[in-house]
Amino acid sequence: MLTNNIPLLKTDRLILRALQPTDAPNLFEYFSQDCVTEFYDLYTFQHLQEAEKLIKTWIDRVQESTGLRWAITLKSGGNGLIGTCGFHNFSTENNRAEIGYDLNPIHWGNGIMTEAIQAIVNYGFETLKLHRIEAFIDPANHASRALLHKNSLETEGVLRDYFFEKERFVDAEMLSILNR
Ligand SMILES: CC(C)(COP(=O)(O)OP(=O)(O)OC[C@H]1O[C@@H](n2cnc3c(N)ncnc32)[C@H](O)[C@@H]1OP(=O)(O)O)[C@@H](O)C(=O)NCCC(=O)NCCS
Repeated sequence: MLTNNIPLLKTDRLILRALQPTDAPNLFEYFSQDCVTEFYDLYTFQHLQEAEKLIKTWIDRVQESTGLRWAITLKSGGNGLIGTCGFHNFSTENNRAEIGYDLNPIHWGNGIMTEAIQAIVNYGFETLKLHRIEAFIDPANHASRALLHKNSLETEGVLRDYFFEKERFVDAEMLSILNR
């Protein structure tokens, strides 16, 4: 099921490619905005090095076969990263993985992440042979819920005080899609 190779995935408007250390300035541009980190277990970035560290974490996970994270780029906009998406917390024995994503706010509301999620969910089911793809969101993250519902993930319930993030406990809404 697991792979340490990031395949190039293409959609109508997007190319999903492997992350590179040189993507850090583009990632920093939006992780330095409060609206992006509001529902993350990360504080808003103050320094470019924080973006470099996050990209290194994602690249290391790929090399260790514990995660897959793609850089989202626009076919019409050169090779520059505008967002990321991928899988982590693989459970090999249960054939499942968790999905995660983020997008530069200048591109919000244009269906970009819907396109990206469709591509990686298909890859997860068809190539990785996952049985279940799941997501945890903050119940107040309405954009994230709408995105996942649009991509056929269903809400299963809310786990109370499930994560300790930024000095406080937060609930987690769990969603999933099954490969049946
Ligand atoms: C969540 C996020 C990736 C959505 O990306 P996006 O490209 O704007 O989403 P899409 O344009 O594909 O929208 C998908 C659906 O969600 C809806 N939606 C998007 N933003 C919304 C918002 N703020 N409130 C309510 N619905 C919203 C869209 O209307 C669309 O549904 P529709 O086509 O039926 O109208 C983006 O808001 C983001 O990066 N947020 C910050 C990071 C984050 O929270 N990541 C997830 C952590 S769990």
